[in-house]
Amino acid sequence: MSLNHTRSKELFEKAARLMPGGVNSPVRAFGAVGGQPIFFQRGEGAELVDVDGNRYVDFCQSWGPLILGHWAESIREDVTTALTEGLTFGASSPREVACAERVLDGLPGCDRVRFVSSGTEAVMTALRLARGVTGRPKILKFEGCYHGHSDGLLVKAGSGLATSGIATSKGVPDTIAGETVVIPLDDEAALDSAFAEFGPELAAVIIEPLPANSGLLEQRTEFLLKLRGLCRDHGALLIADEVINGFRLRYGSYSDTVDLQPDLITLGKIVGGGMPVGALAGPAKIMDQLAPLGPVYQAGTLSGNPVAMAAGAATLKVLAEDNVYDHLESLGQTFDAALTKAGAGIDWLHWKRLGSIIWLHCADGELPRRSDRVNAEAVERFNKIHPSLLERGYYLPPSGWEVMFLSHAHTPDQVTGLAETLADLLSSL
Ligand SMILES: Cc1ncc(COP(=O)(O)O)c(C=O)c1O
Repeated sequence: MSLNHTRSKELFEKAARLMPGGVNSPVRAFGAVGGQPIFFQRGEGAELVDVDGNRYVDFCQSWGPLILGHWAESIREDVTTALTEGLTFGASSPREVACAERVLDGLPGCDRVRFVSSGTEAVMTALRLARGVTGRPKILKFEGCYHGHSDGLLVKAGSGLATSGIATSKGVPDTIAGETVVIPLDDEAALDSAFAEFGPELAAVIIEPLPANSGLLEQRTEFLLKLRGLCRDHGALLIADEVINGFRLRYGSYSDTVDLQPDLITLGKIVGGGMPVGALAGPAKIMDQLAPLGPVYQAGTLSGNPVAMAAGAATLKVLAEDNVYDHLESLGQTFDAALTKAGAGIDWLHWKRLGSIIWLHCADGELPRRSDRVNAEAVERFNKIHPSLLERGYYLPPSGWEVMFLSHAHTPDQVTGLAETLADLLSSL
């Protein structure tokens, strides 16, 4: 029996007349998996309920922020109190201080944090700060890492080992794309060439230390540490983009797990507890170069918004004080065991899991560490089963390039159900 999507379809028709493509962020358009976006009415714990009353176990969790699940009981009181006190002041409030303390408690190498309203904005600010501090123009990034949609980061590599970037979006001037150098992940030779050619011009290197935007591409520690060393030797700042990683696997950064010692860390998602928050953190000597103390300008009407700060601080309090990460690891192990069992007959079924981040890579061979090694057929296999996952009540990110997230609200039965359903659908391909 097929789910009824009448109301979602009506809304999409209307939305498509009102908003480009009917959506406010392109991946929500379901372009990769076919079909139309589902319109959701509410989230409850690990579940989403759509406007036609269908229920789904949600393994997207708003792309990562909802580590405690939807509208978690544990943050409700703080958030509703904040709501009753006013939606925005455009001025200082105690909630910013509380959230800043929570964030910095998890980041021993950082003295200061600045809150902004998205991950994109956090990264933009970090890059401006790096350029302001070093007086240099160029940025180095890695193919397959996503850092938001600012001009200089919508770029791909040209041909050759280390080259100036080529814009991947219309509207990005060549002069801006050309200030970003793009190289593959997991490639020491490309690192050496990039620093040999551009070292003195590099203001910063930006990397997701655990890349999670083109699959889950865990990097070798030696590669990350070589990068750290090269940045130091050449006077470039190392920016760890932890918009996904930060507070996801432990209370703090992934960088600390691998002893990366970045100069700046960008955050988002979890630190906003489901509200629009990004952040940038680092040592005082760098962070105090931001206005009003320093010459690098950055500002925001809604930055440090009191309701958002309440959601962030309350989420971080739970993460600091309850056993959330152990619970997530145990759910992850339940998923592994169930998929190992249910998928035993499918020899190309592989997946990568770190804590509560999971990525299916349904192809033979080793799991990739760089985006150009991601198997197109694996992505296609996932995309093909996505509509049937929905039919069976599982909402996953609508693209095989994307990772899924477990939340504290999921139950062992729900993750076992997902594993068994995945195995069943994949085996029928
Ligand atoms: C690593 C990383 N950096 C930056 C961003 C941009 O964040 P936002 O979508 O909040 O602008 C994202 C978004 O997914 C991300 O994963």
